[in-house]
Amino acid sequence: MLPFDLIAVGLNAVDVVVRLPDRVNPGTKHLVDDLLILGGGPVGTGSAAVALLGYSAAFVARVGRNTLSEVSIDQFRRCGVSTDLMVHDEASRPAIALVEIDPATAARTVYVNLDGYGYLRPGDIPVAAIRSAKVLMVDSYDLDTTERALRAAQGSACRSLLDFEGGDTARLRTLVALGTDIVLPLECGRQLTGQTSPDAVLRALATLTAGQVVVTDGENGSWGWENGAAVHQPALPVAQKVDSTGCGDAYHAGYAVGLIEGWPLPLRMEFGTLLASRVITKVGGRTALPTRKDLPGMMAGVSEDRIIARLPATQG
Ligand SMILES: Nc1ncnc2c1ncn2[C@@H]1O[C@H](COP(=O)(O)OP(=O)(O)OP(=O)(O)O)[C@@H](O)[C@H]1O
Ligand SMILES: [Mg+2]
Repeated sequence: MLPFDLIAVGLNAVDVVVRLPDRVNPGTKHLVDDLLILGGGPVGTGSAAVALLGYSAAFVARVGRNTLSEVSIDQFRRCGVSTDLMVHDEASRPAIALVEIDPATAARTVYVNLDGYGYLRPGDIPVAAIRSAKVLMVDSYDLDTTERALRAAQGSACRSLLDFEGGDTARLRTLVALGTDIVLPLECGRQLTGQTSPDAVLRALATLTAGQVVVTDGENGSWGWENGAAVHQPALPVAQKVDSTGCGDAYHAGYAVGLIEGWPLPLRMEFGTLLASRVITKVGGRTALPTRKDLPGMMAGVSEDRIIARLPATQG
């Protein structure tokens, strides 16, 4: 097997997404325009976005022969994500997430069920494949698994990109020390450091790790810590914001592409921002992800040409 550009280890989820009608009448039925089933999970969507751009990506999960597993596998394959590193176990299934989108604000409310979830076991972590990959992407849903994957990458050339949302603070602080690229929502950064402003959060995060630290904050954009100072990347203007699901996941995917390509930090942040600005235009975290050939036509910020010029023409 050729080395993967990216391996993702994290929550395997199937999303059922509905954009609520402007008026909901409880106890009645509504015919709605947007109701769909698609693969989800932070690094599930992140790896799908990277694969759609033409890179080789694999998702590690424990799946069985049941409807949810089949949907999840199908959703990965459609995006070009390899399922070769998945472990088959009849009793296992993905998480199911019900996602409700508020039509007025594009904000979403998520309900997750983990019955029968296929938690990865120590032997499921593909140590050799991780060590030969360019980037490992992990989230914070199962911290034992995340720690095993991060330890597998230690001492290899594989960059490890962390996408944490929250959890046990002491444990997360330990795991931050194991990553090379720690890209967190500002809120999670606040939890880990007790600081408030992006600048103070980054300064404190940088003391926990030798890796690169970045925080994201929705429409306020993102900040990276470089040479002892916070560098701001504004969010891109979006004409119509429909659903913010997956913005963070897409940001991580763009950042990961930059790691694969060896881009400097500002360009990694900019490409993440560009992908996130697309995702918000449609319902569902994976619906508006671009392929390589979609990129030149995308409305984007000032450096779009710079980014496209740096992507290999042969991808996607
Ligand atoms: N409402 C928005 N308008 C414009 N850009 C946005 C918006 N929300 C997110 N983004 C873009 O996506 C990036 C990441 O978003 P955010 O900080 O919300 O991540 P997150 O909390 O991890 O989200 P997710 O729940 O999708 O994982 C931001 O830095 C910004 O570039
Ligand atoms: Mg996120």
